[in-house]
Amino acid sequence: MTRSEPLRIGVLASRRGSNLQAIIDAIESGKLDCRLAVVVSDRADAQALERAKKHGAEAVFLDPKGYGTREAFDQAVLGVLADHRIELVCLAGYMRVLSPTFVRALPGQIMNIHPALLPAFPGLHAQRQALKHGVKISGATVHFVDEGVDTGPIICQAAVPVREDDTEETLSARILEQEHQLYPRAIRLYAEGRLSVVGRRVFVEEG
Ligand code: GRF
Repeated sequence: MTRSEPLRIGVLASRRGSNLQAIIDAIESGKLDCRLAVVVSDRADAQALERAKKHGAEAVFLDPKGYGTREAFDQAVLGVLADHRIELVCLAGYMRVLSPTFVRALPGQIMNIHPALLPAFPGLHAQRQALKHGVKISGATVHFVDEGVDTGPIICQAAVPVREDDTEETLSARILEQEHQLYPRAIRLYAEGRLSVVGRRVFVEEG
């Protein structure tokens, strides 16, 4: 599928933003034909906001304390995304669970990256969970977002072997390297119209 304009993406991020940076780098090096129009954060001190500005994207902080309910906050985020005519939302270290209202507003248009091989170890501290469980292989997953926590249809995954001397930090660092490859790749497949979802399965059309 050829588009007349690059896909307009918005990223939601709460902290460091290294996955956001990987997306920015892919765009700036011409590997990803997308327009990062806006980055929204629920934390004023998110490094992600600085990364967005440096790229020339709009950086918006919305303070959850200013909204009475999760739905009201999510409506505000949706408003910002609509103002920027966002076609795909990428969660990248966004520390809030989206309300059903949010998810239903953008069906099939929200992705997330998770530092484990889902459905293993959803939720917080996935790398710590993997070490504690004693798995020999963990990894990273990019998936579409549904109303559950890390439960949506899986787009792509990368495996990372667990070493005997791994700590949460060393395992996280090796998984993160894979995340930085995986997320831009998943976004590119989406932008090229090559993903289709049938039930829980995501099919990738050969390029
Ligand atoms: C990543 O490990 C991502 O998988 C998880 O949160 C972390 C965010 O890191 N959802 P960063 O902010 O992108 O550096």
